[in-house]
Amino acid sequence: SGRLSSAMEQTFIMIKPDGAQRCLVGEIISRFEKKGFSLRGLKLVSVDSAFAEKHYADLSAKPFFNGLVEYIISGPVVAMVWEGKGVVKTGRTIIGATNPADSAPGTIRGDFAVDIGRNVIHGSDSVESARKEIALWFPEGVVEWQSSLRPWIYE
Ligand code: PPS
Repeated sequence: SGRLSSAMEQTFIMIKPDGAQRCLVGEIISRFEKKGFSLRGLKLVSVDSAFAEKHYADLSAKPFFNGLVEYIISGPVVAMVWEGKGVVKTGRTIIGATNPADSAPGTIRGDFAVDIGRNVIHGSDSVESARKEIALWFPEGVVEWQSSLRPWIYE
């Protein structure tokens, strides 16, 4: 207790176009909220291919890169920043394995996805990636606030 909100770990979470089209936005937000993580940034946005290529720059040599970019620009996505203790790693656990064939029931992909190329959601894979992705998607910055439930979530 007593730590400033801004000192807490943050991660970038994106609900992909299939997640938005399939009306999974509320369900997904609800899972992060109920866990006890705190929402710091949220927007519905359509990105162009130059932006998508920037977000996935590390994957530019992969055979699926063009398909991945086409998928991400195929409709609006929900870009979010979530905050909390261990949120990068735990966020990935909530999301489930990259390939929905391997993701456990109870995870977002385990419950709502079948195909790796339509896996509903993205989450940063490290604190360093999170920092870069938050800077890319939220150049305007995020909201400083603290839920009054904080003492009920953290000792
Ligand atoms: S890799 O090859 O290990 O770098 O890939 P991985 O870390 O598992 O996944 C990186 C992101 O690429 C997406 N991905 C794919 N998209 C479409 N088709 C195929 N075959 C495919 N394989 C991986 C995967 O969902 C990851 O995207 P994000 O948005 O980070 O979840």
